[in-house]
Amino acid sequence: MIKLVLAIILAGLVREALVAPTIDLQLMNTLRQGHTANILITLKESSGPTLNQIKDLKFQNRGQKLYEAAEALKSFTANSQKNVLQLLSQYQQTNSLKINTFWITNQIGVKGVDLQIVQDLGKFAEISKIEEEFFIAIDSPIDLTVIDNLQDNEEEFQWGVEQIQAPQVWSSGNKGEGIIVGTVDTGVRYTHEALRGNFAGEYGWFDPTVGILTPYDPNGHGTHTTANIVGRARNEGVAPGAQWTSCKGCSMQQCSQIDLISCGHFMACPTLANGSYANCEKAPQVVSNSWSGNQAYLWYYDIIEYYHFVGIIPVFSIGNSGPACGTANSPGDYDNVIGVGATTIDNKLLNFSSVGPAAIASKIKPDVAAPGAKIFSAWHTSDSAYATLSGTSMACPHVAGVVALLLAEHPNMNYNQVKGALQGGSVPTAGTGKDCGKIPEGTYPNHHVGYGRINALNSIRAARAML
Ligand SMILES: *[C@@H]1O[C@H](CO)[C@@H](O)[C@H](O)[C@H]1NC(C)=O
Ligand SMILES: *[C@@H]1O[C@H](CO)[C@@H](O)[C@H](O)[C@H]1NC(C)=O
Repeated sequence: MIKLVLAIILAGLVREALVAPTIDLQLMNTLRQGHTANILITLKESSGPTLNQIKDLKFQNRGQKLYEAAEALKSFTANSQKNVLQLLSQYQQTNSLKINTFWITNQIGVKGVDLQIVQDLGKFAEISKIEEEFFIAIDSPIDLTVIDNLQDNEEEFQWGVEQIQAPQVWSSGNKGEGIIVGTVDTGVRYTHEALRGNFAGEYGWFDPTVGILTPYDPNGHGTHTTANIVGRARNEGVAPGAQWTSCKGCSMQQCSQIDLISCGHFMACPTLANGSYANCEKAPQVVSNSWSGNQAYLWYYDIIEYYHFVGIIPVFSIGNSGPACGTANSPGDYDNVIGVGATTIDNKLLNFSSVGPAAIASKIKPDVAAPGAKIFSAWHTSDSAYATLSGTSMACPHVAGVVALLLAEHPNMNYNQVKGALQGGSVPTAGTGKDCGKIPEGTYPNHHVGYGRINALNSIRAARAML
């Protein structure tokens, strides 16, 4: 009996050894033309069993859980990736490869490989697939108006912040204090008057694109979104009492898949800006992601699952691919994130905001909507520059800010409770005549704005009633 079992196991091992990695055809074409490429290597072994082992353990606090989970996965993947990394290290010097080991997803990102390297990698039975990395384009700025140096001292509220009734939450003494919000974006101008007071500092910045050690933003997009969550100068931030951390997953025009995965790891277990001395306790409680691309594209799913495991709330813009139905983008269309559509000052769906049904199981998407048309926030061109911009990129930060306000009052709220409070506090929107997925717009949730447009004050009340 034992022999038989052993024979079956051995047969299994032999079979596995013979199954070569799947190599992306597009990648082979690129390499055969003599070009180099950036690749993502996915190992066969799943980190699921390792995570399951620690799932049932009791931890003293969130910091300890973050630490133990990361340590367990890092040692699992170090072992799983050992042989492949050894091969890559032989090429590292001569080919100036940039190697990233990913412990959440058991992947390795390598920038600058040639045909020879990929052919060698193709011999490793422990690799499941080798793909060329893809890029997510950043939408060119929509409705951009820049004021390079704003001098007036007016204390007016910005329409989005005001419409969702954030100031009414502030007047109860809650501006998001004690919460750290992460953004994955084009960077942040951290000397900006709106942002210099609440940068988390050490463990608050990582730049996988070029490795610059202090925050910067050549684009403006990331400065705008970050200040829209926590900005302190012009009432542009929804939760100005919170601190911010940021990872530069996007360069000027696009976001690299490898850099976005790096940023997912940074958020789950921050390091110093040079990538050393990980300190998972510094992880933010909410991460705002104003980027999206493709549909039902599950490449970021495991990162999000890990966020859930360690208590990080993921918020994503749903995309600017409307007005046609069925245009919700990934990862906003995943069932494990809060996907956010955009509304106008008239409380109507912004016409190009992506709408559902989601390509994944025809689920309702977006989950909620938030102000996203002509939103005023900080800009990257000077420390007193501001700009108005439109898109679901601007709606997502409003939601992340409300999440920060909710968590500041109830630090132990879990994802389902936060999502429930956001949805329960949302209000109806004005009609635009849509009925995607045959759900009329007066019915909630619908595929246009989900449960409706967010309202911070209502959501705070919903949380109090729930907890
Ligand atoms: C990273 O920065 C820290 C603090 O400045 C320093 O002690 C450490 O040596 C640096 N590590 C690397 C790999 O550069
Ligand atoms: C959305 O509305 C604006 C302003 O009315 C218009 O310029 C734009 O073309 C519309 N976009 C789409 C995708 O319908």
